[in-house]
Amino acid sequence: MRVVRIPCLTDNQAYWLPDLGVVVDPSEAAPVLDALEGAPLRAVWCTHHHPDHVGGIAGLIARFPGLRVYGSGKRPIAGLTHELADGEQLEGATILAVPGHTLDALAFYLPDGEGDVFVGDTLFAMGCGRLFEGDASMMWASLQRLRALPATTRVWFGHDYAARNLQFSTAILPVDREPAPPPIALRTERMTNLFLRADDPDVAAAVGRAPGLATFSELRERRDRF
Ligand SMILES: [Fe+2]
Repeated sequence: MRVVRIPCLTDNQAYWLPDLGVVVDPSEAAPVLDALEGAPLRAVWCTHHHPDHVGGIAGLIARFPGLRVYGSGKRPIAGLTHELADGEQLEGATILAVPGHTLDALAFYLPDGEGDVFVGDTLFAMGCGRLFEGDASMMWASLQRLRALPATTRVWFGHDYAARNLQFSTAILPVDREPAPPPIALRTERMTNLFLRADDPDVAAAVGRAPGLATFSELRERRDRF
């Protein structure tokens, strides 16, 4: 699947899927319209309701009347036209409910080729989202679902926090990795993202907790203070 990364705001990433006429998480309209260069836009996919992911929707509707706007509907999103539930299919994408960062968090998984998944603020390079609405067990379950996708899957994050997350990770358990912009192969995240490795005995030993949820919670609390 062709994916065009569109940097927005400070460190947000919107993504344009030209073959589908879809934009994921338009924080702002202007950079998206610049990237489109007049190409048609049919739909917006929203990973969650935070303003730095949906702020560009009104501007896009103004340019493309009739634009379809998809999200979970569990939290209000101005301009939303279609609600999506876990397991639903949309334009070849499977919808995954991944609550934790927010209760309305969705991931969009497209299996074509290597596979692509748009994860919003649930998963980041070497990190994961803060727990604004859900709790640790919810987020740990969501991360395990994402982790179970095929290893080749390209992961497209809502923000680029790789440099800071690498500093955090290195302070706990050194990893052989450099910060790089999205996409990152899921295989790489599985091996080097401590939050995806919370049930790995080595990571659990490094934070002095039992493998699994307790280690995940400890990592999340430490990252909140980092
Ligand atoms: Fe967010």
